[in-house]
Amino acid sequence: MSPPANMGLLAGPAGGIRLEPRPMPRAPGPDDVVVRMLLAPVNPADLLAVDGGYAFALAADEPLGAEGVGIVEQLGSRVADLRSGDLVLPLDRGNWARYRVLPRDRLLAVPSGIDLPQAAMMRINPATAWLLLDGSGAGPGDCIVQNAAGSAVAHWVRRLAALRDVMVIDVVRPGSSFTGLADDERLEAAVRKASGGRPVRAALDCVAGDSTGRMAACLDADGIVLVFGHLSGDPSRVRSQLLTGRGLTVRGFSLRPAEAKMVPAARDKMVAALWTLAGQGAADLPIRAVLPLAEADQAIALARTPGPGRVLLDLDAISGM
Ligand SMILES: NC(=O)c1ccc[n+]([C@@H]2O[C@H](COP(=O)([O-])OP(=O)(O)OC[C@H]3O[C@@H](n4cnc5c(N)ncnc54)[C@H](OP(=O)(O)O)[C@@H]3O)[C@@H](O)[C@H]2O)c1
Repeated sequence: MSPPANMGLLAGPAGGIRLEPRPMPRAPGPDDVVVRMLLAPVNPADLLAVDGGYAFALAADEPLGAEGVGIVEQLGSRVADLRSGDLVLPLDRGNWARYRVLPRDRLLAVPSGIDLPQAAMMRINPATAWLLLDGSGAGPGDCIVQNAAGSAVAHWVRRLAALRDVMVIDVVRPGSSFTGLADDERLEAAVRKASGGRPVRAALDCVAGDSTGRMAACLDADGIVLVFGHLSGDPSRVRSQLLTGRGLTVRGFSLRPAEAKMVPAARDKMVAALWTLAGQGAADLPIRAVLPLAEADQAIALARTPGPGRVLLDLDAISGM
């Protein structure tokens, strides 16, 4: 049987996508690895990319896909710490493709014993939660608030905050099936009560719009709002008197630039800790559906509809091609 062709899923015109043939990978350079991609989630960041919603231009001729898991097919002559058949996570975008050639240092090796769909979701959200907690400045005995509490990031924030003895107050939009305080005009009072007198140091906000202001109102003096997502689609609005009166900071957060500022030892420590937690069962996020790359349109439409669980693309499935 002839080897399957390489394919990539790119942003199309007017918010669409296009599946197109890509060159088969060249023989790897000495420090490179040829990876056959297996599974990739459709994350909110991917929907933003499809919609052209990023504040900077993404490469128009590169496949989409913020994260995913693949299997090593071929190794460059100088790559000594991976073997053919090992599972890996590319660190960079461009994962909605069947094959990638990447330098070894742009890959994370997946330890044995991690469920494949969960591995596909380990690159972005766990590290985001880790670095949001670092950026929150919250320490033992402190409290933070987070909105979209049913999200994968929020799941990891709860797991990691517990290890730091930081209390997390979950906030959800009205009508959410996830349990949390309602994100409405009573939020500030509800958070005061739930905090039990602990200082509320930080708000992790991935909704933006008016939610940023309601989250800011929950903070104690000198607190920080970390805005890291745009689920409402609206610009953040905060009462300016809150900023002056309480000395609040509102700061944007993005994983890749934040990681780029880490010293290698700190990044290695974070990655090791996250894999340990995943091995202990922390990576147990629900899966809604797994669809072949050829059905990416349906996968994206499904990912846009509210409901629990992640939609994954099966990048290895040949059906429909
Ligand atoms: N800046 C970064 O580097 C970075 C990295 C990772 C993730 N993020 C962002 O973090 C956010 C969460 O990502 P994720 O993958 O963890 O999300 P997810 O697992 O897909 O969950 C998103 C949750 O948000 C809730 N939601 C959706 N629209 C909402 C709205 N308009 N208002 C309030 N809640 C809403 C939904 O819950 P209900 O339906 O139950 O309300 C949904 O369960 C996204 O905005 C993502 O882009 C940013």
